[in-house]
Amino acid sequence: MNYLTETEAQRLFEEALKAMENTYSPYSGFPVGAAVLANDGTLIHGTNVENASYGITICAERVALAHAVSMGKTEIRAIAVCSSKDSTSPCGACRQFIIEFGRDIIIVFKNEQQIIQKTIGELLPFEFTRKTMD
Ligand code: THU
Repeated sequence: MNYLTETEAQRLFEEALKAMENTYSPYSGFPVGAAVLANDGTLIHGTNVENASYGITICAERVALAHAVSMGKTEIRAIAVCSSKDSTSPCGACRQFIIEFGRDIIIVFKNEQQIIQKTIGELLPFEFTRKTMD
């Protein structure tokens, strides 16, 4: 698999940390940041956006990816996600949202202080996508 170099992964993770500065998470107090790296090198930030109607909260990864798509960037190389805790990887809903754009997208996240890289296909095996319906 075409993983990022350690330096690239670290840099993308740092972009997610920058994105986290804009968190709107007054209800959970759990800030999350995400950074999308498009195939053409474009970087796009996202953060979680909560709401008084809790259930319509949007996760950082989906905000970042929707932003990327709305900029015409559907070819995605990698997405980093971070929070203020040591270990955070994308929730199930975000995994489904991300795999729409390819099972080889690299997800960069921290687990017990270590930067981990996994493809979204590894994080969401036996996925349901357009291909399932062909
Ligand atoms: N959250 C994310 O932004 N991404 C995830 O993958 C997991 C959860 C946010 C949603 C909510 O604002 C807060 O974290 C607590 O669930």
